[in-house]
Amino acid sequence: MIVNTELESKGNLFPSKIIDFKKDVDTLYFTTENDVILQLTVVRDSVLRFRYTTTGKFENDFSYAITKYANRGYNKLEIEDLSTHYKILTSKLICHIDKETLKVQLFDATDGLAINQDEIGFHWEESYEHGGDIVKMSKTSNDGESYFGLGDKPNHLNLKGKRYENWVTDSYAYGKDTDPIYKAIPFYTGLHHGRAYGIFFDNSFRSFFDFAHERRNVTSFWAQGGEMNYYFIYGPEMTEVVESYTDLTGKPHLLPPLWALGFHQCKWSYYPESKVKDITATFRKLKIPCDAIYLDIDYMEGFRCFTWNKDYFPDPKRMVKELADDGFKTVVIIDPGIKIDKEYSVFKEALDKDYFCKRADGPYMKGKVWPGECYFPDFTKPEVRDWWSGLFKELIEDIGVKGVWNDMNEPAVMEVPNKTFPDDVRHDYDGNPCSHRKAHNIYGMQMARATYQGLKKFSYPKRPFVITRSAYSGTQRYTSTWTGDNVATWEHLWIANVQAQRMAMSGFSFAGSDIGGFAEQPQGELFTRWIQLGIFHPFFRVHSSGDHGDQEPWTFGTDVTDVVRKFIEIRYELLPYLYTAFWHYVEQGTPLLKSLVLYDQEDVHTHYRTDEFIFGNQILACPVLEPNAKGRRMYIPKGNWYDFWTDEIVKGGKEMWVDADIDSMPIFVKEGAIIPKYPKQQYVGEKVIESVILDTYFKEGKERSQLFDDAHDGYDYTKGRYSYRTFKLLGKSNELIIQQHKEGKFNADYKTFELRIHGLPFEIKEIQLDNVIIPLDHVHTNGISIMTIDKEFSELHLIGK
Ligand code: GLC
Repeated sequence: MIVNTELESKGNLFPSKIIDFKKDVDTLYFTTENDVILQLTVVRDSVLRFRYTTTGKFENDFSYAITKYANRGYNKLEIEDLSTHYKILTSKLICHIDKETLKVQLFDATDGLAINQDEIGFHWEESYEHGGDIVKMSKTSNDGESYFGLGDKPNHLNLKGKRYENWVTDSYAYGKDTDPIYKAIPFYTGLHHGRAYGIFFDNSFRSFFDFAHERRNVTSFWAQGGEMNYYFIYGPEMTEVVESYTDLTGKPHLLPPLWALGFHQCKWSYYPESKVKDITATFRKLKIPCDAIYLDIDYMEGFRCFTWNKDYFPDPKRMVKELADDGFKTVVIIDPGIKIDKEYSVFKEALDKDYFCKRADGPYMKGKVWPGECYFPDFTKPEVRDWWSGLFKELIEDIGVKGVWNDMNEPAVMEVPNKTFPDDVRHDYDGNPCSHRKAHNIYGMQMARATYQGLKKFSYPKRPFVITRSAYSGTQRYTSTWTGDNVATWEHLWIANVQAQRMAMSGFSFAGSDIGGFAEQPQGELFTRWIQLGIFHPFFRVHSSGDHGDQEPWTFGTDVTDVVRKFIEIRYELLPYLYTAFWHYVEQGTPLLKSLVLYDQEDVHTHYRTDEFIFGNQILACPVLEPNAKGRRMYIPKGNWYDFWTDEIVKGGKEMWVDADIDSMPIFVKEGAIIPKYPKQQYVGEKVIESVILDTYFKEGKERSQLFDDAHDGYDYTKGRYSYRTFKLLGKSNELIIQQHKEGKFNADYKTFELRIHGLPFEIKEIQLDNVIIPLDHVHTNGISIMTIDKEFSELHLIGK
């Protein structure tokens, strides 16, 4: 392996002066005397693509990350040929390309502020061993610059001063400093002078990012092959950067079915059937809401994918139906390793059809996983993905399984030093044959994609649900994810919090951790604190390795069970709020979780915060991360916030102590917010929703909130059968006006909203609904005014005495 400590390498080569310039519609080509070409494409006014070759010829332009649905088009493109440089202008950016060195400088078009400058810029080292180049880029790190992103890195949110590697790796019991782990998301956001920009280095080889670590004023990135190919994305808001990146690499193709946002219970492994039934029955008996139950590898016959162990599960179809009748969706694990067994149909078929990966000189790629010696399908070949997707027919269509969990897809190989395939393994890479060096980081993504195709086909007319462990940029289009094999420690609770936030700012919001920890067993207190955090994670699942004891909500005694139940119930109440946020994610790429820096980048106090985050747009949460805590100190972002538990209003922009004994945690609601809630349910769809609660937090001033509704599953919403309500709140000292605007043609079953107004500073004298004074019943208890109104109201006007 090339251990490349970047910049000062003796073998570095550099571009020489520009001798030719061409323009082809949105793409500019700058050629140097030594055959380097910089291809600069204006994707949008705020998105530029930089691509370099050192041979005078580019590779076939192919990427698994970039979606064909990405927005393209710009308002302005002007080029000036100046004496020392070319100047490219769009409506958002000014880009200089130096004629002597090919160095790039980027400025904000509105005020000329320097946003990003090449230090050495593009340079490279030839690779004798593999051919091609080690491609490198170095940028100046600006004063006070902070860095965020890179997927699942388990350390501090702000990446400044660190070096990271992207090479997806099975990392059992990883720690804060383990790098790399399961994901490769070569995208970061830089923030300085209140402006944010992003860099997405779309190169699937092993890559590295150095954020002012090797040299204080330099940030660099490089990869062990392929092209220097990156997208520069300008904000200036960090949310815009994340949204643009998500637009480029794809928003989820579909909303998840609503049940997938419920609570999931998993373990390695629940078997036989009677054990599974015991677990699900206990959930219902103890009235702990739960929507999904998982089967880990032991449901299979000798760990052969797409088979069942008939001793443990004699009649899977019946069992799955009985579970479904009780509101449980069954999710099963599927791994990439296919057991070498001539009697096993999946193996035989793949062998006959030549679908397995091979070594450079022709032998099959053989490696050990759970079933023993395995071969591995080449998911980078379209034909193989089609075949794989077809294998789900029985599982999904006939047996009724509702979700599939793809694991070990780094791909993980046991008992070998590098934990994965050797570099020489060959892949199709969708018609761009290559070695594992290039395909490694996208292998798991392509497996999850094939699984998604299968689930989509056979779940129809319902929506598919897939989970993956390994991911490259763009994987969020197909699947949700979890953070792999963590440990039941307080440090890992901290890590889980950081990872879910970091994934969200890396375009992949549908993520969560193994709640309670996968390895080892938590104490009840740790389990409780983890559930409290978990209710705010888009993917909300308890999972553990059975070797270390049980990890169900009732394992730790009734006190813990009661608190855990209370928090899971809050999650279920918040489902319409979360689903609406998911709609914003699917539509605009808006992250479901916002670290404080994403929420308020102007406030420099947020740049080094890790614990607090915004769930959706209006709820601030902060987990308690230490044992025996009766509360904690936390930073409240600017603005006024209501304490979720007491309705006390706190003024933000400061750090403060917040009480939170074991049955509580710091949660705040933004002043002016209208939070939609469902009644408590044991599972999604258990109850017919008759009225949606709108928890309304009075503000003197304005705030907007939204509510998205549809059938909670199926495809009708893609044809416009959804409704999207915007609530405009306007509060004055003696008045409150709420206006509703509705789009879309869906008509939800419920007829009314139950308005619960918190913090109303006046006594109600008169109520006008759509301009008519009405004798509306309302009660006032504990400082909350409650009234029920028709859901199609346009304007509610409360006037004080
Ligand atoms: C891996 C997975 C874990 C799973 C286990 C057995 O360790 O990360 O979630 O339970 O394999 O399948």
